[in-house]
Amino acid sequence: MKKLILLTIFPVLIFASSAQSIVSNVCSECHGTKMDESGMGVSMAPNTLTQAEILTALQGYRDGTRSEYGMGSTMNEKVSEFSDSELEELSKYIPTL
Ligand code: HEC
Repeated sequence: MKKLILLTIFPVLIFASSAQSIVSNVCSECHGTKMDESGMGVSMAPNTLTQAEILTALQGYRDGTRSEYGMGSTMNEKVSEFSDSELEELSKYIPTL
């Protein structure tokens, strides 16, 4: 995990803003590199959800309308800057992990 955090300082990765780099640079801090970890011990592991469930969840967190386990604001901070297409890309990528 330390290694991943160090990698984010290299600008080349910031331009490669694919779902893959978002997962390793942002999401893996809480959900693991395979998205197989519960967020702070409260949520489901994202990679066990369907594409549609992930997309609905991420849009809800981004729009500030979802807080399934009382920690929606934590997720909102992480996804509030992402576009619809980035959320869609993430929702397709995560179930493959
Ligand atoms: C700081 C820790 C943290 C980071 C970083 C984080 N999450 Fe989460 N995640 C959580 C928490 C806490 C929840 C539960 C929120 C709630 O109360 O609904 C959650 C919930 C989720 C859920 C819904 C799971 C369920 O049970 O319905 C998905 C999907 C998800 N996160 C995906 C992501 C993605 C994609 C990223 C990267 C953009 C990310 N998370 C980054 C902590 C984090």
